Amino acid sequence: MKKILALIMSAIMMLSLVACGSGDSSTDGDVKTYKVGVAIYEFNDNFMTLYREELENYFASKETDTVKYDVQIVDGKTDMAEQTNQIRNFITQGVDVIICNLVQTSSADTIIDEVAEAGIPLVLVNREPLAYDAEGNPIDEAYEGIIDNDKVCYVGADARQSGTYQGEIVLSLADNGDLNGDGKVSYIMAIGDPENIDAQYRTEYSIKALTDAGVKVEKLAEDICNWQQTEGEEFVSSALAAHGDKIEVVFCNNDGMALGAAAAIQKAGRTVGKDIYLLGVDALTECIEMIGNGEMTGTVLNDHIGQSHTAVDVAIKLLAGEEIGDYYWVDYVKVDKDYVDAQ
Ligand code: BGC
Repeated sequence: MKKILALIMSAIMMLSLVACGSGDSSTDGDVKTYKVGVAIYEFNDNFMTLYREELENYFASKETDTVKYDVQIVDGKTDMAEQTNQIRNFITQGVDVIICNLVQTSSADTIIDEVAEAGIPLVLVNREPLAYDAEGNPIDEAYEGIIDNDKVCYVGADARQSGTYQGEIVLSLADNGDLNGDGKVSYIMAIGDPENIDAQYRTEYSIKALTDAGVKVEKLAEDICNWQQTEGEEFVSSALAAHGDKIEVVFCNNDGMALGAAAAIQKAGRTVGKDIYLLGVDALTECIEMIGNGEMTGTVLNDHIGQSHTAVDVAIKLLAGEEIGDYYWVDYVKVDKDYVDAQ
């Protein structure tokens, strides 16, 4: 009897070892569990925090009695070497699909190659990988160009649109942003992470919208604030100290930095809507409230819900072995006082 029991026990142990080591989706009775690896560039980022929470919730909402998602989310801490290790770890674990918000888009090729070689489908999100020319500038024509793999795609928003909307909000103001009536819009620009195309295009297209409409502009200052509130506050407060009343418009590539800018503006005794304008991107809840009560001029909704849901939907298609496209775009929405009041 003891012998039979020992045999049964060792058979059970063998089976569970095989199940653990297989790495791929596991099946327990009628329940199939897919392993999903999610690599986020930085947990300490307002927008990506909303994005990642929604991603997790939406995966959970897609579970059924027979299909489960074991979602593992890791923090790249703005360190590409760390993120590369995390992706390699996902590969070793044999996850079924990877969703990646790259730390450095210039590493896209390497990551795509490694993940593709392991036969794992990959959904890139939020930081669009681009082709670059010899000087390191993104090649516009390649905007939808570099992904060419059946199991890889990019889900994001066209950052040019968000920049254009920021400029259009300024154009819709009675004075076109020229508060002091000197015939030009004098502005400062808080820039996100310059390696991220969202920062590059928002910086360029916000101003382009003004100049395309024939409005003269003058840049008084700009600085890299890496999407961070504290860096935004530092920059705007020193720009206000240096240029004072000359500053008419504060453009921030995102709302995180705009929140910092709002604090600096208040500390400098300036008043948004009266003697200065303030623009962001993302439409964080705090910023929507501030627009409603006049503390911010406008923002642009960066639809983390639409983007995260699309990323999950496409990941689920990949898990089902369905065909996918190379690029999925989610629209931005202009958010000014009229929009907020109408909600
Ligand atoms: C968002 C920023 C965020 C960045 C992260 C951008 O699309 O607007 O708030 O920090 O993505 O990559």
